[in-house]
Order: sequence, then C-alpha cells, then structure tokens
Amino acid sequence: MKKDYFTEKSKLYEKEAARTNNVKNIGESIVEKRMYDKTTTHIMDFGSGTGLLTEQIAPHVRKITTVDISPSMNEQLRAKANSLTCELSMLELDLTTAELDETFDGIISSMTIHHVEDVQALFHKFYRLLNNGGTIALADLDKEDGTFHTEDMGVFHFGFDQEEFATLAKNAGFKDVNIGIVSVAKKPYGDYPIFLLTGTKR
Ligand SMILES: C[S@@+](CC[C@H](N)C(=O)[O-])C[C@H]1O[C@@H](n2cnc3c(N)ncnc32)[C@H](O)[C@@H]1O
Repeated sequence: MKKDYFTEKSKLYEKEAARTNNVKNIGESIVEKRMYDKTTTHIMDFGSGTGLLTEQIAPHVRKITTVDISPSMNEQLRAKANSLTCELSMLELDLTTAELDETFDGIISSMTIHHVEDVQALFHKFYRLLNNGGTIALADLDKEDGTFHTEDMGVFHFGFDQEEFATLAKNAGFKDVNIGIVSVAKKPYGDYPIFLLTGTKR
C-alpha cells in the first residue's frame, strides 16, 4: 500500500485562504470555458483531495467521479458529499496503476499532476478514459525552483514548462490544446503561477 502523504495535511487543508483562493481561480477559469452540460456531462476529478475543485464544478455537470489515492483526503470529501450539487461517485485508487471500466465526458485536475512520475503515460490514460468529444482541463504549477513544497509530499516535478506539458498532451492525441496562466498560488515565501491546460479528444 502506498504512503498517504496527506494524513496530517488533510485536516488543515482548506484552512489556508491562499490555497482555497487558488483553486477558486482554477474553477472559475474552467467554468468560463463552457465545456459541460448540466443534464448529461459526467466528468472525473483526478486527485480530488478534499473536493475543493469538485464542489466548484458540481453545479455545471450531471455527475463527478472523484479519484484519489489518499484515505485521509477522501474522508474530508466524504464529509461534504451530501452538500454537492451533482451526483458523486468516489474511487480510492492510484490512477497510474488502476484500470477503470468506465469512460468520461471530461477530466479535470488541480495541483495533482506534479505528484505523478510518468506524465506522458498519464496523458495516454486520460485519452483512453475519455469519450469522443471529451475534454481535459488540467491545472498545475508552472516550472518552479523546488521551493513550493516545504515537506516531502511525494513530488516528482517542480512544476512544468508549459510548452513541454502541452506537447505531452498533443503526443497523446489531444486536439485544440490551449495552455495559459490562470492563477497565482501565494505562499509567505513567494508567488507561484498556475497554468490551466485544456484540450479535446476528437
Ligand atoms: C495537492 S492535492 C490537490 C487536491 C485538490 N485537487 C485541490 O486542488 O485542492 C493532490 C491530491 O492528489 C492525490 N494523488 C496524487 N497522486 C495520485 C494518484 N496517482 N492517484 C490518485 N490520486 C493521487 C493526492 O492523494 C492528493 O489528494
């Protein structure tokens, strides 16, 4: 069983205004793209954590399947499941190794992909998991100097170069790939720009 890096952090995760503001900016930028239909769309939130992004996108989709490996983060999300404004299904698994039977109309993710070692393989998996016409909306850290995390949280990448990240999406087959800064994560010791990448399977 993999280590739960978020055991301690999960309880205090939503207490930091800088974090909630950042995910709010990400959520608003995703909603602005108007990719979803409230009556039909079923999306996956990869690395859903306590559900900060899930709850923002919920009013705009029919159903969200959350995927997170961390029991402690999932416990926080489960506690607010009843207040979500869409159907919810929660999967506790490592998406890099698990195979899922279902497919989705969209995949969203916030601040998670830097925890994944093989990002190219992840993009291929996202492509396989989408229906034709399905979309990705993935937000993460722009390239940073390694100071964003002050403790060992299972990090494989100090953010990403936007062009390289977009190339990984295109390599997997995604079209209409677009990437740009949508937020800044503020820490007492620095500001960290956050990008959003969108793309379509068609
Ligand atoms: C920094 S948190 C982000 C949570 C939330 N998306 C947000 O923006 O507040 C990253 C989350 O990704 C999860 N995670 C990391 N690698 C994963 C993997 N391979 N499979 C599933 N979940 C993963 C962690 O357990 C953690 O809850």
